[in-house]
Parts: sequence; C-alpha cells; structure tokens
Amino acid sequence: GPQIFPGRRNSQGWDLTSRADLRRIGAAMVPHLDSFAEAGPMLAGRPAGALRSDVVNPATGARVGQVLAAARADVDTALRLAEPWATDAATRAEALNRAADLYEANFGPIFALLAREAGKNLPDAVAELREAVDFLRYYAAGATGLTHPARGRFACISPWNFPLAIFTGQIAAALAAGNAVLAKPAEQTPLIAALAVGLMHQAGVPATALQLLPGEGDVGAWLTSDPRVDGVAFTGSTETALKIRRAMAENLAPGAPLIAETGGMNAMVVDSTALPEQAVRDIIASSFQSAGQRCSALRCLYVQEDIAPVILEMLGGAMEELSIGDPVLLSTDVGPVIDAGALAVIRDHTEAARADGRLIRDCRVPGQGTFAAPAVIKVPGIAAMEREIFGPVLHVATFRAGEIDKVIQEINATGYGLTFGLHTRIDDRVQHFVERIHAGNIYVNRNQIGAVVGSQPFGGEGLSGTGPKAGGPDYLPRFTVAAAPVQGM
Ligand code: NAD
Ligand code: ALA
Repeated sequence: GPQIFPGRRNSQGWDLTSRADLRRIGAAMVPHLDSFAEAGPMLAGRPAGALRSDVVNPATGARVGQVLAAARADVDTALRLAEPWATDAATRAEALNRAADLYEANFGPIFALLAREAGKNLPDAVAELREAVDFLRYYAAGATGLTHPARGRFACISPWNFPLAIFTGQIAAALAAGNAVLAKPAEQTPLIAALAVGLMHQAGVPATALQLLPGEGDVGAWLTSDPRVDGVAFTGSTETALKIRRAMAENLAPGAPLIAETGGMNAMVVDSTALPEQAVRDIIASSFQSAGQRCSALRCLYVQEDIAPVILEMLGGAMEELSIGDPVLLSTDVGPVIDAGALAVIRDHTEAARADGRLIRDCRVPGQGTFAAPAVIKVPGIAAMEREIFGPVLHVATFRAGEIDKVIQEINATGYGLTFGLHTRIDDRVQHFVERIHAGNIYVNRNQIGAVVGSQPFGGEGLSGTGPKAGGPDYLPRFTVAAAPVQGM
C-alpha cells in the first residue's frame, strides 16, 4: 500500500473558486503572457547546439519562444561531465524540497507557460504544478530510506502532455537516489523544461547532476544507445518505448533498467444501476479534460443497453455546455491539442467515423489554433479501435446483462492495462471487475484521471508500462542498484 512519510504533505495548491486566489493568479500570470522565452542545452560545460526553432502557442499560433536543440556533441559533453550526486541523502532531500518551494513560488510564470506552450487551462495547470511539487517532496522523503547506492547516469525522457509533472517526477526520483540525470524533454515543450531545470539548479542541484538536452527524438535515441547510460526512465508512447528497449538491449549494460510508462486503451463500464448524472459528469471529465491528452483518459465506454439512451442524451447535453477555446481564459473547459500533427491524426479518425455514419456527436471549435472537436463515436467494442487516439474522442459500445465477462475479456484482450473506470451500485460487481480487469489503476464511481502522488501510485501493465508505479513506494528503489530487472512490456 501507499507509504506514509510523517510530516510530508501534498501541495495545497490554489483554490479556483476563491476570488482572492484568482486575483493572485491573474496578477502573477499577466507579466508572463506576452514574454518570449529561450531554451537550449543546459550543460555542466559549453553547449554547441544544433538547430534553432520556434515554439508556438497551439491555441493562437503565436510564437512563445525559441529553442536550440542539443547536438550530438552536447550529448557527449553531458555524459562526459555527468557526476552522480554523491552527497548524503538528507542534503539531496533538502535541495529537492527547496525546489518544490521554488516551483510553488513561481506559479505565475509556470501557469502562463503551461497555457501558452502546452495548451493547459487553469485547472489543468494547477493540477500539474501540484503534482510536480508532490513528486519532488515525495521522492525527497523517500531518499533517506534508500538502502542501496545510485546506478550512475540516468536518461530521463518525457512527453509533452505533462511537461512539468512527469518531467519533474522522473528527474526528482533519479536525483533523490543520487544519480546524475540527463533530461530530454519532449520537443513540443522545451521552455517549461528549461524553467524547471533552472529552478532545480537554483535550489542547489549541482549542474553536473542535472543537465538538460532539448531536441527531437534523435536526442533521446543518442542517449538510449550510449553505453555510458546506466538506466532510462521513459514516459511516452508504447511504440517509442519498444524502440528504446531495442536500443538499450544492443548498447547498454544488460542490467541497465528501463522504467517505461506508456500508452493506454482505457475503458469504463457503466451498468444499469449507475447514477446517470454522476456517470456523465465522470465520463466528460475522463474523456475531455486536458482535451483527452492524458494517458489515463477514457477511450472506450461500455454502457449497459437499457441505460444507454439516457446516458447518451445527457452526454450530448453536457458536451453542448463545454467551452472550447484559449486556455488562458478562465471559462475554458477544453483547450487545443498540442500541434497540427496531433490534430490531423484525431481529425482523420473522426472524419472516417463520420463518413461511416458512426459519429454520434461532435462540437464546434474555434477557427484558428489546433483545436480538436470533442466527439463521440459508436463502436461494436474496444477491439474495433486500432490504436490509442490521443485526443478528445470517446468511443461508445453497449452491452447486455449477461455479457459482463465478454466485456472484461475484450478489454483485457487489448494488451494494454493503464486505467479502468466502473460505475455500478452492486458491490459484488465491483469485486468481480477488480479481480479480473488488467489495469494499473481502477477507479470506481468517479472519473479515471488525476492520480494523486503518495495515495494513488500510478502506472500500468502489459503494453502500458513496466512498472513500478510513479508516486508509490516501489518507484525510488528502481533508481538504485537494489532491485532486479523487471520483465515487463
Ligand atoms: P512519444 O513517444 O512520441 O515521445 C516521448 C518522448 O520520447 C519525447 O521526448 C520524444 O522526443 C522521445 N523520443 C522519440 N523517439 C525516441 C527514440 N527513438 N528514442 C528515444 N526517445 C525518443 O510520446 P508523446 O507523443 O510525447 O506522448 C504521448 C504518449 O505518451 C501517449 O501514448 C500517452 O499515452 C503516453 N503517456 C503515458 C503516460 C503514463 O504514465 N503511462 C503518461 C503520459 C503520457
Ligand atoms: N497521472 C496522470 C493521471 O492520472 C496521468 O491522469
């Protein structure tokens, strides 16, 4: 079960229903809404740099900043100068806790950049900053209890959808254990990564222990095929994880761990005893919050036939109320998807469904920016979905009483196992699902997103990841020489 560290508290965050907090947030964000940020390799030595490119706001197309990608020579410099953080654990914990305080104090620039670079609305930005801070404090608390030494040099490779929380979580764990970190942020979100690394350095993390290597996937590939790397923490698509696994097998020491958290084909089952209002609220949050760009998001809803008409009608009504627009506006429920490439994949999928007469509902979106319309598509079952569509698209299937085990079997047959949601008021049925569904995180009568560090360790099985779960007691030891390699994905 979750490990309780006496004295550790999760971030108290900001109250978006409080006028005073909103005024404070607004005042702190405003100076950063027009600023232009620059990022590049942050090394213990002199960076060379490769290509310079613009970072644009997905909601407006405006330039937010510029990034200088790391050159192969920068990866070499970083690996040459990397030094494990060989101080005592208490000193490392102090620095990580100081970093958490600095993150919280810098909420203005952080919220502004999360909106402008990653398309996050305010509730998402608040949740993301809180999660990042919770990771820092949780792994700081765990550092002093570690019984084995660090592995050495850890490559931490992260996705754009949690450009602060996941980026920080991997790094905080590797550092808490005493490793040197080579951090490779997603190419879409280098600015927030540079801001975060700056704050960690300011908090006392040595430049040799934490270096930043922005760039495209090739920078990640250089890292994961360099024998000087002793372990890799990766969060992103299953496809990339498999490439990394192959590169590591060919080039790294046999014992070098890959901690991979990957994609999902997440289902929810709503049976005829569910409370429709509650189920619909949770379906909306699970499918459309963060524009569906959470690995945990609901992709395929199974609703029992007799309750389906009510659920679908209420769902349609709730979708009409969604406010889709610029995430800097407080009224925005659904922001843009990350970029034009992501939008094209989602749109092709939705338009194919429209052409086949399977699109039950979609929404109107702003004319500019990369906005994907929240949509509902009818499917016979989850097997009809070829892959994870990473956006605000909900697939709906129906089932009859007596088909529960068939539904469970279909969901498990995807091979993924990240999140699962269940709405029912039959206790035995909860037990039945929990014992049979293969998923890392199962949520009953609530939404299926937003796991909380320390109390809901997060991570999947099968094609969804290797474990151990982030924000849980088994995570940190994997960054030391203690644990044997895990056979996962
Ligand atoms: P992605 O796999 O395209 O990229 C992730 C990172 O890997 C980026 O930094 C990218 O530059 C890097 N990369 C790309 N090719 C590489 C290579 N050959 N070698 C090394 N690194 C390489 O994923 P994404 O589009 O940024 O993120 C979305 C995906 O992440 C979705 O599938 C989502 O489900 C998954 N995700 C999973 C979790 C989880 O906790 N399980 C959390 C968030 C996102
Ligand atoms: N930890 C994130 C969530 O639970 C991905 O939604």
